[in-house]
Amino acid sequence: MTARFNLLRTSTFRLAALYLVLFAISVAALLGYVYWNTAVLLERQTDDTIRAEVQALADQYRIRGLNGIIDTIRRRSADDGGSVYLLADATGRRIAGNLVSLPAMPEDRASWIEFPLEIDRGPSREHHVARAFHTDLEGDFELVVGRDVEALRQFANIIRSTIYYALAIALVLGLGGGVLMSRNFLRRVDAITEASRTIMAGNMSGRMPVQGSNDELDRLALSLNEMLDQIERLMAAMQEVSSNVAHDLKTPLTRIKARVEAALRSGAEPEYRQALEQTVDESDRLLATFNALLSIARAEAGEARAGLRPLDVSAIVAEVAELYEPMAEDAGGTLTSSMSSGLNVLGDRQLLAQAMTNLLDNALKYGASPGETPQIEVAAGIEGDKVVIAVRDHGEGIPVADRGRVTERFVRLDASRSQPGNGLGLSLVSGVMTLHKGTLVLEDNHPGLAAKLVLPLYRPAS
Ligand SMILES: Nc1ncnc2c1ncn2[C@@H]1O[C@H](COP(=O)(O)OP(=O)(O)OP(=O)(O)O)[C@@H](O)[C@H]1O
Ligand SMILES: [Mg+2]
Repeated sequence: MTARFNLLRTSTFRLAALYLVLFAISVAALLGYVYWNTAVLLERQTDDTIRAEVQALADQYRIRGLNGIIDTIRRRSADDGGSVYLLADATGRRIAGNLVSLPAMPEDRASWIEFPLEIDRGPSREHHVARAFHTDLEGDFELVVGRDVEALRQFANIIRSTIYYALAIALVLGLGGGVLMSRNFLRRVDAITEASRTIMAGNMSGRMPVQGSNDELDRLALSLNEMLDQIERLMAAMQEVSSNVAHDLKTPLTRIKARVEAALRSGAEPEYRQALEQTVDESDRLLATFNALLSIARAEAGEARAGLRPLDVSAIVAEVAELYEPMAEDAGGTLTSSMSSGLNVLGDRQLLAQAMTNLLDNALKYGASPGETPQIEVAAGIEGDKVVIAVRDHGEGIPVADRGRVTERFVRLDASRSQPGNGLGLSLVSGVMTLHKGTLVLEDNHPGLAAKLVLPLYRPAS
């Protein structure tokens, strides 16, 4: 019962019903017009002809007298053209014409009458309808002139029943079509409701059904699915971050606890001091890790996208390069930088500086083969519609097989274990690139690594 009720309440059904009413009205108007133009006009024409004939006979009577009109009526009655005539005297007795007697008629004279007509067709008799005009002639004669209108009436009947049938068919087809269309619509809406229920119940991999017809329901389902994909990705990322945090913070915390306990056990003041100092160092590292993780999560969630401003990255690159130049020299190496101006991107100054810092930090840490000094080149320029910032070193580089995974959180290559680090630097860089709709490209520098930040060039709409 409710299902049927719902069906009637769908917008599709209402629309179909509205169209049905409009369609029925136009069908009725069209057929009505046809009816008017044929049946009604034909009947009118007949009336006109009869009237003209009455007039002509009346004229005959006036000019040629009784004999003249009798003559004409006899002549006309003789040919069987469906016309009926009767000339009667005051008592109603027939004088001339093919009607046997005066038909029943209203009191007022000079009027239209309709009466049954019996037609002799050899063995059988047919019952027709005649329409006639009845008038009085001077000298108390009565004249009836008419036509057999049976064919006309039948024709009008056919047109009338055609109109009724056409309307009935239009109604049935329209209602049926409306019900079918709404049923299909309801079924799909129900499927979407069902899918969203299962997703709410915890099945995050569930998706809205898509038919592939690309109609409005399909488009709705597709964009809902995109939204669900995005939510699922974010939830997975959150889960990963929390499990990473749980796993990777356990080690330093255990270490702190062990050191403090050892110091307490020893009871000596220098041990206390050392344990506290080490605890401070470890806490700093923990804080740095936390901050990096938070920044990565924020960048990946696209949270900071609203804060992107047009800026020239050459200033940022110059600033960070300047900061790292003395460090490279302290390590006995060099850091050279070259950049063109007008490197406009839509960006976040803080995060881009952080990404550059991470790349230069890596170049310093891993950019020299054992026993060598770091030689680092920073270059920023425009390639096509991209701004490309490259940091090159001459160290061991990253094997092709590892280039994909080093951007994941906490991934460090075995060759780098001797250097301090959490394995979060490149994750943050790639998160920052995602936020800027750019990419981090890792290439071979023969030898060493070429890490490139590729950002879309920003051209202000002029
Ligand atoms: N320039 C480079 N040359 C060789 N290997 C590199 C270079 N940069 C990164 N790597 C490798 O990629 C790994 C991940 O780098 P990432 O910057 O993410 O972490 P990290 O430097 O180890 O730690 P963090 O940056 O968090 O201090 C590094 O451990 C190292 O093995
Ligand atoms: Mg690093």
